[in-house]
Amino acid sequence: MIKLENASYSFKKGFSLSNIDLTIDDGEFVFLIGPTGSGKTTMLRLIYMNILPDSGVVRVGKYSSNSIKKRKIPQLRRSIGMISQDYHLLADRNLFENVALPLHVIGYSKSDMGDLVIEMIEEVGLTGKENHLPDELSGGEQQRACLARALIKDPDIILADEPTGNLDPVTAFDLVKLLEKVNAEGTTVFMASHNYSLIKSRNHRIVEIHGGKLRS
Ligand SMILES: Nc1ncnc2c1ncn2[C@@H]1O[C@H](COP(=O)(O)OP(=O)(O)OP(=O)(O)O)[C@@H](O)[C@H]1O
Ligand SMILES: [Mg+2]
Repeated sequence: MIKLENASYSFKKGFSLSNIDLTIDDGEFVFLIGPTGSGKTTMLRLIYMNILPDSGVVRVGKYSSNSIKKRKIPQLRRSIGMISQDYHLLADRNLFENVALPLHVIGYSKSDMGDLVIEMIEEVGLTGKENHLPDELSGGEQQRACLARALIKDPDIILADEPTGNLDPVTAFDLVKLLEKVNAEGTTVFMASHNYSLIKSRNHRIVEIHGGKLRS
């Protein structure tokens, strides 16, 4: 479960997320919608415990922002697949190596991870591009590479930050369907987007954010 209780966070340079209350149950699929600059990425960063609230609490599974020790944060993140808005693919590693990275971190041996990586690359439609470096992939392909990297560790939660931003409408729709498939297998999905036309027809809960405040 993801639970924000009266959580607030202010950047020194001005913007604040204020008094956020939100509960996402295990297995839910929830969209976070709001205009650019409204605080979507900041909210996902709070859940990823990349930043901690100034007041209030963020709870993710058994972890709580007011008691988690710094050294436990990597453990929390093992259960979360994060798809960042700005990719964060390693520039000097090819697609295969980037997708395999989370398995390296968990301690898989090279021989154990091969099939899994190939399968995941196929799932996101990038078969044949295994040897491409990130700058040899299109923006949309990089976005799908991030999805594969997020999915490969079989996370409990997927946090997807505008994962369709660089995709054409058909590919964007396919990506949402892929997230729905993962969700149907039990993974909680929380996806930020400002593409209302893409998400309104999907029949999932929609949470709206404006100027750092949730609208109910
Ligand atoms: N590190 C930072 N320091 C200061 N202000 C920041 C920082 N990061 C973001 N902001 C500000 O916080 C506000 C919310 O940013 P955020 O990235 O959460 O918006 P967003 O809803 O994800 O927008 P977009 O749809 O464009 O991705 C913006 O006004 C931004 O300028
Ligand atoms: Mg953002």
